[in-house]
Amino acid sequence: MGKEKITIVGSGNWGSAIARIAGNNVKQNPDMFDEQVKMWVFEEEFEGKKLTEIINEEHENRKYLPGVALGENVVAIPDIGEAVKGATVLIFVMPHQFLVKTLDQMEGKVTKGIRAVSLAKGVEVNGSDIKLFADIISERLEISCAALSGANIANEVARDRFSETTIGVRKKEDGDMWKKLFTTPKFRVSIVDDVAGVSLCGALKNIVAVGSGLADGLEWGNNSKAAIMRIGLMEMKSFCQEFFEGVKEETFLEQSAGVADVITSCLGGRNMKVATAFVKEKRSFEELEKEMLNGQKLQGIHTAKEINTFLKARNRVDAYPLFTNVYRICWEGKPAEELTDGL
Ligand SMILES: NC(=O)c1ccc[n+]([C@@H]2O[C@H](COP(=O)([O-])OP(=O)(O)OC[C@H]3O[C@@H](n4cnc5c(N)ncnc54)[C@H](O)[C@@H]3O)[C@@H](O)[C@H]2O)c1
Repeated sequence: MGKEKITIVGSGNWGSAIARIAGNNVKQNPDMFDEQVKMWVFEEEFEGKKLTEIINEEHENRKYLPGVALGENVVAIPDIGEAVKGATVLIFVMPHQFLVKTLDQMEGKVTKGIRAVSLAKGVEVNGSDIKLFADIISERLEISCAALSGANIANEVARDRFSETTIGVRKKEDGDMWKKLFTTPKFRVSIVDDVAGVSLCGALKNIVAVGSGLADGLEWGNNSKAAIMRIGLMEMKSFCQEFFEGVKEETFLEQSAGVADVITSCLGGRNMKVATAFVKEKRSFEELEKEMLNGQKLQGIHTAKEINTFLKARNRVDAYPLFTNVYRICWEGKPAEELTDGL
């Protein structure tokens, strides 16, 4: 069998942190992996220069992950067709609002039957229909797609501060390759056969993180935040078990993708911080995202809207009061003080 050729589809804050890990690990496992890691970059100008040129010349993504060396074997490519050509392993890591459009551009350019993993946190909702990104990627490209999620604030992982992550796989035998690609002494990978549970935890915890940020903005203190984390985790679990078959209880309570990611996202992370500012400064999310995130994207408010659309279509809004209150506060002008009404 030939060596695995890795392409990362996306190059933001998390994409760059993962590129650094994959770039180092392919060099540690030369029998298994090709030495070059390609990274598709949505081209843009940064400080008067193309971002791909900055990455390829300075080996650093100065816009999205400043101060962290990516390794010379990570090569930035602006053309998606060129980036995925010949790849045997694809790592999808982009803000979820861009995923479907990017898949459109990839059609016919990816070798069928290769393996992929989705690191994007979100879901695709169409009325009463809900789809996981891992499933959309699998169906659109006719490839097998796993899901990686966990308590992984990119800036901390990129600086080798100890973290854990969870990868949900479809075939147990794929676990070894994913572990070799992502494990480091400071980044522990756990493999589970629960693609849906891992994917949904990653998406839904962003709504809970917005809730935690709203509570912080109101200066409600730690008891309230802990309650929001607990209730949020329970709503996440109910949602998964109500609408998806085979999701495992352990994913919520024992995995980094479950409880640990809820905690880290509710204590820090962009969704929480921007939601705090939304309450304190009384400005729009759009404005705050532009001002506070330097090109990074907010996810939780969009996921809250999508999940609300889905729950309305299924007539189940009242069964998920925290998700619903977060949605109404963010999108319908409900006062933030009513965050815990009906919980
Ligand atoms: N940053 C984190 O700490 C972190 C941790 C774990 C998971 N995640 C998840 O990983 C995914 C990617 O997040 P990130 O932090 O790498 O992204 P980000 O928010 O830092 O990046 C923005 C990215 O979007 C790209 N972009 C902008 N406009 C685009 C367009 N029109 N089409 C395609 N791409 C466009 C930019 O080039 C940039 O790469 C998200 O789903 C996020 O929830 C993030």
